[in-house]
Amino acid sequence: MSALPPLLPPLLLGRLNHVGIACPSIDDQVAMYGRLFGATVSTPAFDLPAQGVRVAFIDVANSQLELIEPLGDDSPIHGFLKKNPNGGQHHVCFEVKDIIAARDAMRARGATVLGTGEPRMGAHGVPVIFVHPRDTGGVLVELMAEPPQGGH
Ligand code: CO
Repeated sequence: MSALPPLLPPLLLGRLNHVGIACPSIDDQVAMYGRLFGATVSTPAFDLPAQGVRVAFIDVANSQLELIEPLGDDSPIHGFLKKNPNGGQHHVCFEVKDIIAARDAMRARGATVLGTGEPRMGAHGVPVIFVHPRDTGGVLVELMAEPPQGGH
């Protein structure tokens, strides 16, 4: 007799690394977080051409906010900002132990990985993938390889 299959596949989700927030202007967002919450930017804005975005980070006690604004005419967040002209929550990002295994697991479990499915270098300098929001309850999910030193 073979054992019954487990109810759930192995857990993929590690720490919540960051919440991605798309905005028309990082400068305006940083100013707002300062004025309302007393928060300051922890990583000043820099270009991430591979993802078509400009990025800045605000550290919070247990995670980060990733502020993203479009970079270039082909930026993947133009469409999001068209629907949300003032910006809005764009994605959530979880750490995974093995990005390739996570990509393969997503596909095996019936979810669509965006793009070619080949992990791309993310804003933290580690490879990332994105899972289509139609498979994840309407929330774009980013999976990223655990960064070195377990930091953000
Ligand atoms: Co992100």
